[in-house]
Amino acid sequence: MRRVLITGGAGRIGSLLTQRLADEYSVRSFDVVPQEAVDGVETVRGVIGDLDAMVAACADVDAVIHLAGIPSESVWEDLVRVNIDGTRTVLEAARLAGVPKVILASSIHAAGFRTPTATPLPASSAPRPDTFYGWTKGAIESLGGLYSDRFGLTVFAVRIGAFQETPWSEVDVPIWLSPDDCVRLFRALVDTPVTGFRVIWGVSANAEGWLELDGEVGYAPADDSATVAHLAAPSDAEAHAHLGGVFCAVPLGRPLW
Ligand SMILES: NC(=O)c1ccc[n+]([C@@H]2O[C@H](COP(=O)([O-])OP(=O)(O)OC[C@H]3O[C@@H](n4cnc5c(N)ncnc54)[C@H](O)[C@@H]3O)[C@@H](O)[C@H]2O)c1
Repeated sequence: MRRVLITGGAGRIGSLLTQRLADEYSVRSFDVVPQEAVDGVETVRGVIGDLDAMVAACADVDAVIHLAGIPSESVWEDLVRVNIDGTRTVLEAARLAGVPKVILASSIHAAGFRTPTATPLPASSAPRPDTFYGWTKGAIESLGGLYSDRFGLTVFAVRIGAFQETPWSEVDVPIWLSPDDCVRLFRALVDTPVTGFRVIWGVSANAEGWLELDGEVGYAPADDSATVAHLAAPSDAEAHAHLGGVFCAVPLGRPLW
């Protein structure tokens, strides 16, 4: 059975993947906070900036799903320490431990200033971050490319959209990632024989969406936000102008919550 290390395994996305992937893979979940016990899941407590701890956590691992980080706008120094330095430590640990594949949690906000396009926007489009947070995600995408080109690691950077049970607001409708599609996506990325470096949009098959889905890696989303869009709260007109929605106007460097 292949072994998958999930950093940030106690978080919103991490706890879903930890539970749902445990049927098919041997899951090791790493987080700074205490984690609930899940059958068949090994839990490790530590910080991603600790290289020794990360190398130990990477032992005998086939793929790392790196989710740990600050998931929203925050203080510059904190974002750089956790999202940039922490991700470099994860990539370095994977290299040292001989892990062949690392899947990085990037974000829609790496490209938040992109505007709706008539034809689907490829994920290979360059970052246009909307916040310091989004900038850290663009930066880890290129760091992943460096580790792939230098050391031959397969690195996938997933620009995750709005991971929600149902879209919270109208701006989330085109970028919704349903929980089930999230599981489908990360399973596909662990399983695919595709190697090398690539950036991938992490969204469902949304009828209102304008982001190009990556069939080559075997991701076949089954959900469409059109079926649940009526549950979304209204959004201001300006928020619809850019992919990043309200993030394009929040004060830089101020924690959102
Ligand atoms: N949830 C979304 O809609 C969304 C959208 C785009 C991108 N993402 C990205 O996906 C990832 C997971 O998002 P989430 O919503 O589950 O966030 P979350 O905050 O719920 O989970 C992050 C987890 O990382 C852990 N963590 C933070 N700093 C750590 C450190 N230094 N060492 C070890 N563990 C640490 C936290 O304890 C937490 O359990 C993040 O990188 C986020 O930026 C999420």
